[in-house]
Amino acid sequence: MPLPPLLIRPMTADDLDGVLLLEETSFSDPWNRALYEHELNDNRLSRYRVVVPSSTASGLPDVIAQGGWMLFGEEAHILTIAVRPEFRGQGIGRWLLLHLLAEARGEGCDSVVLEVRPSNEAALRLYETLGFVMISRRKRYYPDKEDALVLMLEGLDDARLWGPLAGELEGLTGQMADGEIVNGES
Ligand SMILES: CC(C)(COP(=O)(O)OP(=O)(O)OC[C@H]1O[C@@H](n2cnc3c(N)ncnc32)[C@H](O)[C@@H]1OP(=O)(O)O)[C@@H](O)C(=O)NCCC(=O)NCCS
Repeated sequence: MPLPPLLIRPMTADDLDGVLLLEETSFSDPWNRALYEHELNDNRLSRYRVVVPSSTASGLPDVIAQGGWMLFGEEAHILTIAVRPEFRGQGIGRWLLLHLLAEARGEGCDSVVLEVRPSNEAALRLYETLGFVMISRRKRYYPDKEDALVLMLEGLDDARLWGPLAGELEGLTGQMADGEIVNGES
């Protein structure tokens, strides 16, 4: 689906209907409202963001993508990331993840950790193309007993790593603000 002009902003309680819809379409073990309410209200170390249309227009979903991360000292943990199925493959996931990495870097993190299913080819490819590498495997980690791969990106405070990523984030932010992107072309 062609993209409207988009922006990334902090998630609020008003976003939860859209966020939960996105959870249902994206995960076999979706988070529920109580979990999100707890995270938004009580977890001072987590930060949740949503990708939304810049202006209200009929026919568009309220929440197009969502992501969250948590601060553990100098390490950031990506807690969740998802894009609505009809908007996938147009760079939104990469844009949002780069945005989360920039936030983590801004809060003093040098490394980023996340878990991913070995069967999740799209997510794995996204992470690997950003420079994440596998550091361990958690056996039978998910509720359906699939293992989790633990991936890490180190060196956010190293200009050689962050410079190109920052440039890409800036470019994507401009493209997303303009809208009408198809496969990375605006
Ligand atoms: C993973 C996810 C967030 C990616 O979002 P997206 O907006 O489709 O990703 P992008 O368009 O930014 O793609 C970025 C890169 O990811 C990889 N990728 C994305 N979709 C892919 C697919 N279907 N197959 C293989 N690689 C894919 C590619 O490397 C792509 O870069 P490229 O287009 O230059 O080749 C999205 O597929 C999703 O919401 N999945 C369901 C929820 C989920 O699994 N979250 C991750 C949990 S660990």
